[in-house]
Amino acid sequence: MNERTTALVTGANKGIGYEIAAGLGALGWSVGVGARDEHRRDAAVEKLRAAGVDAFGVPLDVTDDASVAAAAQLIDEQAGRLDVLVNNAGVTGGMPQQPTTVALDTVRTAVETNVIGVIRVTNTMLPLLRRSASPRIVNMSSSVGSLTRQTTPGAETGPISAAYSASKTFLNAVTIQYAKELQGTNILINAGCPGFTATDLNGFRGTRTPEQGAAIAIQLATLPDDGPTGGFFEDAGVVPW
Ligand SMILES: NC(=O)c1ccc[n+]([C@@H]2O[C@H](COP(=O)([O-])OP(=O)(O)OC[C@H]3O[C@@H](n4cnc5c(N)ncnc54)[C@H](OP(=O)(O)O)[C@@H]3O)[C@@H](O)[C@H]2O)c1
Repeated sequence: MNERTTALVTGANKGIGYEIAAGLGALGWSVGVGARDEHRRDAAVEKLRAAGVDAFGVPLDVTDDASVAAAAQLIDEQAGRLDVLVNNAGVTGGMPQQPTTVALDTVRTAVETNVIGVIRVTNTMLPLLRRSASPRIVNMSSSVGSLTRQTTPGAETGPISAAYSASKTFLNAVTIQYAKELQGTNILINAGCPGFTATDLNGFRGTRTPEQGAAIAIQLATLPDDGPTGGFFEDAGVVPW
């Protein structure tokens, strides 16, 4: 059994996920770089190792049962347990997303990755997480999934989006259900919003750096045992549902 704290970050080959892996690695943790593309994964692992991070590649497509099962087996062999899971991988599903005209495949893609992918990975990793003394699960959500902000006049919630925003609302709802079931265990599960961050996801139009975007996930990954569970947070504090 690896004595180091071990984390898995999904979609860690670029963007916010890469910086979450770098940030957790800087704490001296062993970090599994979950990524579906071999070359992008290898390049990220190499870059992290060059920066002194104890990184290892984890082939992982969150939409694929066999891939996720193999990832759990690899982590079991590598570390014997998992302390922190960051469900970061996400897609918009494609544009446009006007509800009256949206392609159903656009909605399916967003939900398949951003919601069902998170459930698939979480449930497959749960036996490994249960072996940890302080398991943490972080779901990378978005404030565009906040129904309160969506219905608050003047609040900044991005473009009309029947797929991406709604998938993050769904993810928030699922996060609450996990917290309810896991209440009384040592597992803390929370949703985080990175803020509008310059990445491929938005054509690099975001105003925050990926490193800034990663900060909330790192905070939720390192919560003390009496920390919150079933919450939704950004750097400034609680995000309203
Ligand atoms: N950027 C923002 O302003 C913003 C705001 C709020 C929330 N978020 C959330 O933050 C998270 C990270 O987004 P980002 O901005 O860093 O986007 P990004 O640069 O596009 O990175 C997304 C990551 O997810 C991976 N991914 C997508 N589908 C996958 C799958 N089926 N299996 C495994 N990995 C998959 C991508 O891998 P590939 O390279 O193989 O495509 C990539 O590593 C997402 O959940 C996003 O919704 C972002």
